[in-house]
Amino acid sequence: MQTIVLDGQQALQEGAEIIKQGGVVVFPTETVYGIGANAFNPQAVKQIYIAKGRPSDNPLIAHISNKQQISLLAREISPQAQVIIDKFMPGAITIILPKSNNVDKCVTAGLDTIGIRMPSHEVAQQFIEMCGVPIVAPSANTSTHISPTSAKHVYEDMQGKIPLIIDGGECQVGIESTIIDMSGQTPTILRPGAITAQMLAQELGQVQTFKGEVVVAKAPGMKYKHYAPKCDMAITDDINIAISTYKTLLENKNIPIIICSTQWSKEFDGIKFIDVGNNDSEVARKIYSAMHSAQKISNFIICQDFGKDGIYSSVMNRLVKASGGKRL
Ligand code: TXA
Ligand code: MG
Repeated sequence: MQTIVLDGQQALQEGAEIIKQGGVVVFPTETVYGIGANAFNPQAVKQIYIAKGRPSDNPLIAHISNKQQISLLAREISPQAQVIIDKFMPGAITIILPKSNNVDKCVTAGLDTIGIRMPSHEVAQQFIEMCGVPIVAPSANTSTHISPTSAKHVYEDMQGKIPLIIDGGECQVGIESTIIDMSGQTPTILRPGAITAQMLAQELGQVQTFKGEVVVAKAPGMKYKHYAPKCDMAITDDINIAISTYKTLLENKNIPIIICSTQWSKEFDGIKFIDVGNNDSEVARKIYSAMHSAQKISNFIICQDFGKDGIYSSVMNRLVKASGGKRL
């Protein structure tokens, strides 16, 4: 299959046409690029799993372009869920609700709940609107690879497996949406993102954060290795350890690189690095792109531990997975 990359109105029209004919299309969102299909066409949904090589027990998120579509997908919206919908949608959040009977079990991998997200990205909104149906979409990467934040990332990873990539430029948030489960008694964050636990707790009184085994069962995707670069990767919060490890790797004929803040990079002399900026939203926006670039030119990524403040905690959630928990 030939993969074409288009932008503008032509991209949207061709994309909507492919969706109507039961195909899959890659489109941009403010978090990461998604690979989408008609939520109400199980044959089309199955193609997403094939293109990604995704295990069939990992459910998909349904993307909407207006809030009326929520009632097509969910059978019940609690008052607390409504608070989150009013406050954070459209935006980088996915809300888990009890699913309606309209939704086939291949979308939710047999679960009785469904993830719903309304992207704020203008191109995503226009695309979903033109399709006329909710669009289920996981991140547009081959299963276990790094999520894409540009059309080029998608093309490099998935060319030949998808007919069309709608190019909407670089994703401005850069890490996947926060997932909050509102289907049970206590709102629970299953995946941290740019909308933080503190922001959610301010609206809801309290939220439970994702912790260990209990949530593994509820977010099947959590059990898979995710966001992994093709090369080795390890994390450290100590710049001296980063530098000495870099030098040892070099002496042993490796090609290391350091992904770090602007602040760290100023201390380096003769060291290859990728600077991802100096504040949490900037680092989130640039981190996947840095990993995409690093894996092309090096065989060992040393990555700074950015700590737990604000969105940094969500960035670290991805980096710990990417490195398989390896620390220096
Ligand atoms: O920002 C995002 O959310 C991006 C863009 C494209 O919207 N999408 C995305 O999808 O990250 P994906 O498939 O890569 O990650 C979805 C995660 C998976 O870990 C999955 O297990 C979880 O959401 N999930 C989906 N439906 C669920 C449900 N009903 N209950 C619990 N977890 C669910
Ligand atoms: Mg993903």
